[in-house]
Amino acid sequence: MEIRLKHLRRNYGSLHAVDDVSLHIPSNTVFGIIGRSGAGKSTLVRLISMLERPDEGEVYYDEKRVDNLDKKELILARRRIGMIFQNFNLFSSRNAAENIAYPMEICGMDKSAIKKRTDELLELVGLSGRGNAPISTLSGGQKQRVAIARALAVSPDILFCDEATSALDPQTTRAILALIKEIQKKMNLTVVMITHQMEVVRDSCDYVAVLDSGRIVEEGRVADVFAKPESATTKDFLSNITSVHDSVVRWSQDGGRYTLRFRGSKTDAPIISTVSNETGAIFNIRAAGVQNVNGEEIGIIVCDIGPNKEAQDKAVASLMSKGIIVEEEK
Ligand SMILES: Nc1ncnc2c1ncn2[C@@H]1O[C@H](COP(=O)(O)OP(=O)(O)OP(=O)(O)O)[C@@H](O)[C@H]1O
Ligand SMILES: [Mg+2]
Repeated sequence: MEIRLKHLRRNYGSLHAVDDVSLHIPSNTVFGIIGRSGAGKSTLVRLISMLERPDEGEVYYDEKRVDNLDKKELILARRRIGMIFQNFNLFSSRNAAENIAYPMEICGMDKSAIKKRTDELLELVGLSGRGNAPISTLSGGQKQRVAIARALAVSPDILFCDEATSALDPQTTRAILALIKEIQKKMNLTVVMITHQMEVVRDSCDYVAVLDSGRIVEEGRVADVFAKPESATTKDFLSNITSVHDSVVRWSQDGGRYTLRFRGSKTDAPIISTVSNETGAIFNIRAAGVQNVNGEEIGIIVCDIGPNKEAQDKAVASLMSKGIIVEEEK
C-alpha cells in the first residue's frame, strides 16, 4: 500500500512539531525517516498511523483518505498497520506466544487458528519453539522479534518502526534490520523506518527523507542521497557515519579542504593517482572509505588539495569531469 502525505502540520502551542510535510511513500519499500532528537519523527508517525489527527493536511493510504475517519472506520483502518518501538512495548505478564496472540484475540479469531498463526509467526521471526518463554527471559533482540511477530499477526499492509533498533547493539541491529527487510519482501509490506542513525538507513532503506525541525529538508533514493547529499543536515548525518569530519587533523595549511563522493564502478578506479598525474595537484588524504548502500558501493574521500589554487582548480575540474561529486569545505 502506498502512503501520501499532503501538507501535514501539527502544532503544540507555538511549536511546529510537523511543519508542512508532503511525502510519497511508495508501496512495497522500506522508507526511512531520519532526524535528530526532537525533529518531529514520532509526531509524524503518529499522524501517518492515525494515532493523532493533523491540524492541517491530509493522509492517504492508496486512494483512501484516512486522517478524518470516524471511530468505526478508524478501528478497521488501523488493522492494516503494525507498529514496533524502541522499548518493545510487550506485556510482561504474557509469554512470547501470548504476546503474539494478543491482536488476534482482539480480532476474535478462534483459538486453533490463533495457535497455528502464532507458530507460523514464531518461525518467521526465528523463534520457533520459544513460544512459552516469559518475556523477562528474552534478550533485547528476541524481544524485538516477538514485537515484530505481534505487529504482523493480523497481516498488516504497513509496518511502522519507531527507533526499533535504537536499544540494540550493532550486531543485533543488523540482524533485526535484515529480518525486517526479508519480511518486507515476503509480505509485500510498506515499511516506514524512523531513526536517528544513518547506519539504519544505509542498511535497510530504499528511500529516505531527512526531517529537521518538523520539515523535510531532503528526500530520495538512499544511494542517491549518500552519493550526493544536498542539505547541511544530511551531510552532518553522513559525516557521523563515516566519522571523517570531526576527529581528523587538518594536515595541510594551504590546501583547500574537499569531500569527494563517488559511486559504483568508480570505487574501483585509481582516481586520485590519475588526477594527480594529469594535473600535478597534490592530494593529502585525511580519511576515506567505501560503504555498501542498498547494494551499491558509495565511496568518500576527505582530502586537502594543493599545492596552489591553480592546481586545485584543475584537479576539481578533472574530478568533476570523471563524475566525482566534489564539495569544498569552507
Ligand atoms: N504531546 C506533545 N505535547 C507537546 N509537545 C510535544 C508533544 N509531542 C511532541 N512534542 C514536541 O514536538 C517536538 C517533536 O517531538 P517528537 O517526539 O516528534 O520528536 P522525535 O523526532 O521523535 O524525537 P526523538 O528522536 O527524541 O524521539 C519536540 O519538541 C517535542 O517536545
Ligand atoms: Mg521519537
